[in-house]
Amino acid sequence: MPVTAIVGAQWGDEGKGRIIDFLAQQADVVIRFQGGDNAGHTVINEYGKHALHLVPSGIFNPTTQNIIGAGCVVNPASLLDEMARLQAAGVALDSLWICHRAQMVMPYHRLLDELEEKARGKDSIGTTKRGIGPAYADKAARSGLRMGDLLHPDWLEARLDNALRTINRKLQILGGEPMDGQELYARLMAYRRKLGHRIVDTMALLRRALEADADILLEGQLGVMRDLDWGIYPYVTSSNPTAAFAPSGAGLPAGSLDRVIGVVKAYSTAVGEGPFPTELLDETGDRLREVGGEFGATTGRPRRCGWFDGVAIRYAAWLNGMTGLAVTKLDVLDGFDELKICTGYRLPTGEVITDVMPDTPQLYEVTPIYETWPGWRRDATAARSWDELPRAARAYLNRISELAGVPIAYVSVGPEREQMFATVP
Ligand code: GDP
Ligand code: IMO
Ligand code: MG
Repeated sequence: MPVTAIVGAQWGDEGKGRIIDFLAQQADVVIRFQGGDNAGHTVINEYGKHALHLVPSGIFNPTTQNIIGAGCVVNPASLLDEMARLQAAGVALDSLWICHRAQMVMPYHRLLDELEEKARGKDSIGTTKRGIGPAYADKAARSGLRMGDLLHPDWLEARLDNALRTINRKLQILGGEPMDGQELYARLMAYRRKLGHRIVDTMALLRRALEADADILLEGQLGVMRDLDWGIYPYVTSSNPTAAFAPSGAGLPAGSLDRVIGVVKAYSTAVGEGPFPTELLDETGDRLREVGGEFGATTGRPRRCGWFDGVAIRYAAWLNGMTGLAVTKLDVLDGFDELKICTGYRLPTGEVITDVMPDTPQLYEVTPIYETWPGWRRDATAARSWDELPRAARAYLNRISELAGVPIAYVSVGPEREQMFATVP
């Protein structure tokens, strides 16, 4: 049974949640390996519609163990809210575990995110304001608090004191109010009571699973183009959504990945700032947004929409070592007369780029080179196999696969669990 990483291949919101919910029906373990509640992974199944922020998307399968891995940053308040919502919908949470090494997102991290974005003015990143950047910054600065610290109150108190010494100064510099250590400590003790029994050394669980040849899914958050190192820096998140980081963030050996599935929308979207070469600021972009329901699952912001970017997918495929693509939202393209695919970027010098990703300042200046593909009139939502797709849709998908250099493993033609199929049954 394989270890499979499911990663975003574009700018996030590719439909990772729905793919994982589908695959988790066969999985023993699902682990989120990075990110925090900046994620909004939408899953629609017999439990209704849920935007998951921290809880892994395997939670709906009662036989799957669900782990929030060491590479994540966890806001306990937001996790508790999410758990309450899931419980109210009848979802059992007995199999939800939090790695003791995962970092904690503190109330001051959200505040700092807000204040830092304000201080950036017109150069803001457009973050989700969930405190993700400040929490990862504290992790790297070694002043972060970890979920496991909740299990050691004296240690926790000392760590909090230590952190607040600099945090409170930072807050004041940015025009915020300092935070009261005692009040924060009391809040943390409440989290300990509610979450303490779920905070464990998840590596032991994974090690047993790997040795038992279990089916393990590693759930990525966001996508390559917002990777801290390989994305459109500084308009990126503060962790690495790419597959190479998956085993580390989960707690598995480096060579343990058997499959890497890149999730990709049949067109492009992005939320937040930064260069986005195939963006459509016209009625075609509006149509994609409306038909695709392209509004952020976490912040509700309208998503920027554009044509499929073949350069970005080629880059994402290579960097992730993808073994297969999962293409989502094909149905959103139903009824277009023609579709465009970007196959290269032209630099102001005239040079054409297809195999690398220009750095951020250069990316603002590229002109996408498009080829035009015929659309299809038939409704793709009813297809449950490759052969049932409209012929023009198959041709379009084959071109995407060719540009990525990776076969298409799954196609999704609607948001519901059953509106998806493997290309090779
Ligand atoms: P994630 O963050 O990668 O999990 O993706 P999001 O949940 O943020 O965004 C994907 C959106 O597209 C959600 O609203 C899904 O319900 C929806 N969706 C996923 N797959 C399909 C599909 O094949 N067709 C349609 N129409 N919607 C889809
Ligand atoms: P999922 O997992 C889309 C974007 C923000 C911003 C940048 C940095 O649902 O795909 P952050 O709050 O992480 O510091 O913001 O990244 N962003 C997302 N965009 N989907 C997400 O998650 C995102 N998480 C962060 O809009 O541009
Ligand atoms: Mg999302």
